Amino acid sequence: MRGRFTTLRGFRDILGEDVLKFYYLEEVARKVFELYNCFEIRIPVLERADLFIKSIGESTDIVEKEMYLFEDKDGERVALRPEGTASVVRAYIEHGMYVSTPKVKLFYTGPMFRRERPQRGRFRQFYQIGVEYFGVWEPFADAEVISMLFDIYRSAGINDVRLRINTLGCERCRVNYTPRLMVFLEEHYHEICEDCRRRKEVNPLRFFDCKKESDELKASAPSINDGLCDDCRTHFSSLMEYIKIYPVEHDPYLVRGLDYYTRTVFELYSERTGRDFALSAGGRYDKLVESFGGPPTPAVGFAIGCERTVEFMKAESRRVDVFIIVVGEEYIGTAIEVARQLRSEGLICDLEPSAGSVKAQMRRADKLNSRYVLFLGEEEVRKGKFKIKEMDTGREFTVGWGETSIFKK
Ligand code: HAM
Repeated sequence: MRGRFTTLRGFRDILGEDVLKFYYLEEVARKVFELYNCFEIRIPVLERADLFIKSIGESTDIVEKEMYLFEDKDGERVALRPEGTASVVRAYIEHGMYVSTPKVKLFYTGPMFRRERPQRGRFRQFYQIGVEYFGVWEPFADAEVISMLFDIYRSAGINDVRLRINTLGCERCRVNYTPRLMVFLEEHYHEICEDCRRRKEVNPLRFFDCKKESDELKASAPSINDGLCDDCRTHFSSLMEYIKIYPVEHDPYLVRGLDYYTRTVFELYSERTGRDFALSAGGRYDKLVESFGGPPTPAVGFAIGCERTVEFMKAESRRVDVFIIVVGEEYIGTAIEVARQLRSEGLICDLEPSAGSVKAQMRRADKLNSRYVLFLGEEEVRKGKFKIKEMDTGREFTVGWGETSIFKK
């Protein structure tokens, strides 16, 4: 039956085992963040629209087509955040972290909003877990965030991930490179799409992340790697040395869909779906803090796409440790007491006397994938001993009040 209301296109509810996977991913990420001495920051969902327009770039798909943008009642132009980096940079400056903690690793989690055409792994509301590392110019910071990313995937049991990486150089490298790319786009004017024709003067790099252009045409264009300055070349080669223990490949045509990147950019994908389906992505953005009015501050980070990542995680089903079967309504009070004790010892405990007969309660215990059932009725209360059944083996035994160690994993 469909009710009167359904979710909007591209929005969805996350239910059942999927919720557990999201939860588990966040839990392993939090453990990894702690090991890297990375601190949480909670950023708002709604920000001034200009924050995103000025950082992500006016001629990017996100800003041109995908932002949820509206005028608030007081006339302020606001947007639902399409990503987290811009907000974290705003917060870094707004709270004077460049003075109090100039070198800091911050992480965030939560929903992002982009009005894209929905398809597999692409939603209008999706979740990210992101990291931003401020204050370090040297490539070891890039290596730190990349190893954090691999640690998270490995802890989540996803081992077949690979990283595509590239360097976009700095502003100096771009000055040399951009005119060459413009000439190429002019020469291929009739082969490129409307968007790329329009953008070629203002932001020709967008050609490389345009979904309409063929890989062959992209591969025949001049590569930004050919005109790198010495500093950028050294930065990239040192980074490649630091991360050589990981499955990493240099892709000289990788650019990203956001304008703020300088030098390193990367995307992580699984061998099972291929490189066009990025599970996470990130890079360095050494100019963004300054462009928002802060002091020159380098930074590098990434964001994990949670929906795409959980697709690769095994189902995490929760097991109830002890399900209490209440034999007779008059024992419900005692059952609540027993449940309280088990829970206080960290055991997942459930009961459902309203299910009806012992048989019906057993069915519930089975459905909840319980490890043990504990019977509670007249005899048990009188003797102070409970009958227990271990569900996986069918083994039955009795335990006394307070003998809970048997249930521990
Ligand atoms: P992004 O590449 O736009 O980068 O997004 C990061 C990841 O979020 C993508 O690789 C993808 O897995 C996921 N994602 C993006 N859009 C969608 C969507 N519509 N539906 C589902 N998943 C999606 C950023 O957002 C940057 N802020 C990353 C970063 C942090 N760079 C430096 N620091």
